[in-house]
Amino acid sequence: MRAVIAGVGGYLPERVLTNEELARSLDTSDAWIRERTGIRQRHIAAPHESTVFMGAAAARAALADAGMGADAVDAIILATSTPDEAFPSSALRIQAELGCRAGGWGFDLSAACSGFVYALSVADAMIRAGQAHGVLVIGAEVYSRILDWQDRGTCVLFGDGAGAVFLSARQGAERGNGANHGILSTHIHGQGSFGDILYVDGAVGRADRPGTLVMHGREVFRQAVNRMAEAVDEALAANGLTHEAVDWLVPHQANIRIIEAMGRKLHLPPERVVVTVDRHANTSAASIPLALAEAVGDGRIKPGELVLMEALGGGLTWGSALVRM
Ligand code: UT7
Repeated sequence: MRAVIAGVGGYLPERVLTNEELARSLDTSDAWIRERTGIRQRHIAAPHESTVFMGAAAARAALADAGMGADAVDAIILATSTPDEAFPSSALRIQAELGCRAGGWGFDLSAACSGFVYALSVADAMIRAGQAHGVLVIGAEVYSRILDWQDRGTCVLFGDGAGAVFLSARQGAERGNGANHGILSTHIHGQGSFGDILYVDGAVGRADRPGTLVMHGREVFRQAVNRMAEAVDEALAANGLTHEAVDWLVPHQANIRIIEAMGRKLHLPPERVVVTVDRHANTSAASIPLALAEAVGDGRIKPGELVLMEALGGGLTWGSALVRM
């Protein structure tokens, strides 16, 4: 039994906030933000664009892309660090929004920017174990609500949005060319001893201290480059592949300099690396499924091609997924 990506979808808030706009109220500049991060703009959620709202919209798009209805969904795993409520899970709020049939299950998964890779890993394991057949894996985030808008070192880096894939269980999962398709492997890692280099100094449900994001950027940068390079090697070795086999890199979108370093490691030309950080900034758990939805939607990524996804986030968490589309 294999988990196959049957559909992809995304949702971005309407409101776009440019670097120039930020520079009007903050000691920063478009030039600094572009040079250090590659970011030109980000989308910012309006009050009604909650994690549930955006996650449900991305999920609907993924189901439509798969040609499926809500009745095909057994399970929803929502990767988010910004759920609407402490409980019920935003995943089950989305289940209700979509009108999924009774008898399913769902939960929120907290792994910060690696959340989508973690959720893909859990969903893949449950599909292989026969515990689910149709799983929505969603990444949805409203980081604009956990940012200190006076802190130029963090608030310029993030944006809001949601992305989703619909995973379908397929026996054998063979394509015409004989290559197995679907999720070939996932690898996830966590190291709590690095918890203090990227965290939120408060808690969901604490009205007195909902918390804002704190990041030691240089140290996170160093960890990101080293850990994700290891994750790339691990994914290829586990599948007995070399970098030549990889058609596309769909990385977490935190910083163009990190993305380019990973592209060089895989010897991929820039046009084989999907980049959205310039327009979306860092949307945490939503960044990979949003990038995937864009590149599948515009026809760049084609059926049968091999896609490597990798991410690093607060925790620290990091990991990879290798998927034949
Ligand atoms: O998604 C989770 C994973 N996250 C990441 O992977 C993020 C990893 N880190 C990064 O991407 C980079 O470290 C940043 C983009 C966050 C920062 O870039 P940097 O090149 O590491 O800059 P820095 O933090 O070392 O700061 C350099 C200078 C400092 O000034 P001084 O001390 O040299 O005078 C900062 O105060 O840039 C200053 N600075 C800014 N200047 C203008 C920091 N933020 C800004 C800003 N505008 N927005």
